[in-house]
Amino acid sequence: MERTFAMIKPEGVSRGLIGEIIMRIERKGYQIVALQMLSLTSEMASEHYAEHVGKPFFTRIVEHISSNPVVAMILEGPDVVSEFRKMMGATNPINALTGTIRGDFANDMSLNIIHGSDSVESATREIKLFFK
Ligand code: CDP
Ligand code: MG
Repeated sequence: MERTFAMIKPEGVSRGLIGEIIMRIERKGYQIVALQMLSLTSEMASEHYAEHVGKPFFTRIVEHISSNPVVAMILEGPDVVSEFRKMMGATNPINALTGTIRGDFANDMSLNIIHGSDSVESATREIKLFFK
């Protein structure tokens, strides 16, 4: 059994999509092992997005993710890291297929609703950061 870290970003919370996203996770059959609504400090946001330090969008995404509350979750299931990425859809919602979370609810890369770990190693790191 594998675990991943998922996070409903501020725009997902403010647009009232918590229920919709959790419904998709539950219907797919993934276990929600932990769930917390929280506001990120900029330190925590910087650590979460550490792989993007130095990129032109780094400051913007750190500011955005810490601007309003998010919903952080640990999901468990077979191959959940890569399978949940499929459920999320492509980073740029313009390329995300209909039926994916980003494909169905987003049209702007900086407001793409959902985060999911990109590898088992990232999942371990992100889970440690959010659920100490
Ligand atoms: O979230 P994902 O793993 O699909 O993408 P990422 O490459 O790890 O980038 C993290 C987040 O930064 C994305 O989800 C986008 O919201 C944002 N981003 C952006 O605003 N502009 C870019 N050129 C790349 C990413
Ligand atoms: Mg990523």
